[in-house]
Amino acid sequence: MRQLDIEFEPEHSQFSHLPYSERLKLLKDFDLSFIGKNGRLSLHNVHSFPAKFPPQLPYTFIKELTKENEIVLDPMMGSCTTLIEALRLKRVAYGCDIDPLSILIANAKLSSIDIEKIHRTGKSVLNNAFKNFSVNKSKIEKGILNYFDGKSLEFINYWFKKETQLELFALVQQINKLEDEGEMNFLKLIFSSIIITKSGGVSLATDLAHTRPHIAKGKSPASAFEEFNKKMSSTLKNYIPMEKPNFKIFRSDAKEIPLASNSVDLIVTSPPYANNAIDYLRAHKFSLVWFGYSLENITDVRNNFIGNNSFKGKDLVALPKRCMDIIGLVKKVDKQKGASLHCYYSEMRAVIQEMFRVIKNNKTVVIVVASSVIKGIDTLTHECLTDIGKEIGFNLIGINQRVLDRDRRMMPTRWKRNENSQIETRMHEEYVIIFQK
Ligand SMILES: C[S@@+](CC[C@H](N)C(=O)[O-])C[C@H]1O[C@@H](n2cnc3c(N)ncnc32)[C@H](O)[C@@H]1O
Repeated sequence: MRQLDIEFEPEHSQFSHLPYSERLKLLKDFDLSFIGKNGRLSLHNVHSFPAKFPPQLPYTFIKELTKENEIVLDPMMGSCTTLIEALRLKRVAYGCDIDPLSILIANAKLSSIDIEKIHRTGKSVLNNAFKNFSVNKSKIEKGILNYFDGKSLEFINYWFKKETQLELFALVQQINKLEDEGEMNFLKLIFSSIIITKSGGVSLATDLAHTRPHIAKGKSPASAFEEFNKKMSSTLKNYIPMEKPNFKIFRSDAKEIPLASNSVDLIVTSPPYANNAIDYLRAHKFSLVWFGYSLENITDVRNNFIGNNSFKGKDLVALPKRCMDIIGLVKKVDKQKGASLHCYYSEMRAVIQEMFRVIKNNKTVVIVVASSVIKGIDTLTHECLTDIGKEIGFNLIGINQRVLDRDRRMMPTRWKRNENSQIETRMHEEYVIIFQK
C-alpha cells in the first residue's frame, strides 16, 4: 500500500465557514514556516531545484482560497510545486517557465503514468544501452561526435569523464527512441536527476544544485548506468502518480502569460532573486546539453531570465520612489549593479502587471520573495515589489514573514549564516506578499 508521505492538514478548508475576505486576512498571520515538516516527498523530491517552495505553502493558499476545478497559476513554476499541490486538491493547474528543464520536470511529474509499465520500459532502456556500450564503444564515440556541436563537445569533455560520457550517451540514445512521450519525459527526468545533484552527480562538478559548479578533477563518479537504475527504482517505489490531472504547461515568459484577462482564480509564485544570486541555467545546462540543447540555445534562454545581470537593450522604466532610491544607492557604489537592479525591478513590474491582467477581480496573487544584498545594501525586494503592485492597482492584504528551513530550501551558497549581521539574518527570512485585485 502506497502511503502519502505528508504532514499536512486535512484537505478541506479550515475556514470555509468564513467569507473570502476574512480567510485572506487570517492567511496574512498564518505560520507559514513549516520548519521540520515533511512535504509530499515522492513527487516533489525526484529532481533537485534551487529555491523550491515547501509544498505546504502553495497548498495552504490553494486549499483556503479556491474550490475544486478552479484555476491556479504559477507563471514562474520552476519544479512545479504549486501545480502539483493544485492538482492534488483537484484544481486546474496552469504553469509557465522559460527554462526548458522546468518544462521537462513539469511534463514528467504531472502526467499520470503507469508505474509497472514505466519500470519495464526503463529496464529495457538500460539493458539496450548497456549492450551497445559493451559491444560497440567506438560507434557510441562516433555518435557523440555527430550529436554535439564544437562548443558543447568541449563542455562535456571538460565536465564529464570519457567513460561517463559513453554511458550517458548510450542511455540518451535509447530514451530518444521511445514513442510514448510520457515515458520519455519521465526517463529524461531520472536521467537529469543523476547529474544535477548536490554533489554534482555523475559529472566532475561539485555543488551543482547550488548552481556554482567547480571542477573536482580527483572525483571518481559512480557508473551512470548504476545511478540511473538506482534512481529509477527508488523513485518508482514511492511514486504516487497524478490521477486524471487537468493541467496546461506553457514555455513562455511570465511577462507575456498566454491566458485571457480575468481568467485565473489564484496565483502562487516565487520569482528569481535579483543580481543573479541563483544562476539556474549554469547548472541546468549539465543535463540540457544531453537532450540536444546547444550552449548557444541555453545562452539565449538565459538572456530572458529575470534577475540575470544583463540590462543591455532592456527597458528600464520609472518605478515607485523607494525602488528608485535603492537603485540610486546601489548605483553610487557600482553603476553596473545599480542598472541590473533597475532592470530586475522593471521586469518584475511587467510580470506583476501581467498577473494583474490575468487574475479575476477580487481574487488573490501570492508572491514569495527574499531580499538580496548588493554591495552591502539591502535591496528590500519585498517592500519594492509591494510598492510596484500597489501602483499597478493591487490591494495589499499584508506581508507574511516566514523563516527559511535551511535544511530543506536550497539557497545561494554565499548566504552563510552570520547571526551578528542584521542583513544576513534577514536573508534567512522570506516574505509572502498577499495582493488582492
Ligand atoms: C524561484 S524559482 C521558482 C521555484 C518554484 N516556486 C518551485 O517550487 O520550484 C524561479 C523560476 O522563475 C523562472 N523564470 C526566470 N525568468 C523567467 C521569465 N522571464 N519567465 C518565466 N519564468 C522565469 C526560472 O526559470 C525559475 O524556474
